[in-house]
Amino acid sequence: MIIAVDGPAASGKGTIARALAKHYRLPHLDTGLLYRAVAENVRRMELDPTIEADAVAASNFPDDMLDDAALRSDDAGQRASIVSEHPLVRAALLQRQRKFANQPGGAVLDGRDIGTVIAPDADAKLFVKATPQIRARRRHGELRERGSTISLDKVLADIRARDLRDTGRNAAPLVMAADAGILDTSFLSIEAAVIRAIELVERQLALK
Ligand code: DC
Repeated sequence: MIIAVDGPAASGKGTIARALAKHYRLPHLDTGLLYRAVAENVRRMELDPTIEADAVAASNFPDDMLDDAALRSDDAGQRASIVSEHPLVRAALLQRQRKFANQPGGAVLDGRDIGTVIAPDADAKLFVKATPQIRARRRHGELRERGSTISLDKVLADIRARDLRDTGRNAAPLVMAADAGILDTSFLSIEAAVIRAIELVERQLALK
């Protein structure tokens, strides 16, 4: 069983994908981390993230890089959004994601293009959203907890910039799959959002 969870930055898709993975006892892949790792590798190699060949050269990152706390910063997210615009970077990361999705027993993947490009035949698809203000407040809280001094205004501006870039790019833009269930987490607690996510998945599985 493959479950695809897509949505914009800080919508709650990661939390929901992890909870679904636990509920259905499936392995989980946060695909945003792959783009974050490329972006971090670009920085370490002192390359230019806006140049496709540079970003491609950095897409062969070592596996242990995915555990690096530096990938979780707001800055790494912005740079990830920049490298993810390049079609050749997306192509370089495609097989790895498809392989994870198609492993025996199934998987849960979260990202921007799971239900549309990586696993268009997924058994269940969710599109998780929330207002930019609410997403900014959540992300701001997370970043502060990790010791960042970034302001709420800056986080909101970054989220808006990332939404524009992720939805406006030509290669696999963030769009809702036609057959995805919509989950608006704006006014839901984590617990309520997870219950709703399981209901939406069950409903889609029942229609199979
Ligand atoms: O989910 P995240 O915030 O960790 O993602 C960081 C960036 O990576 C996001 O702004 C766009 C890109 N991304 C993508 O293009 N496709 C995905 N499946 C996941 C992330």
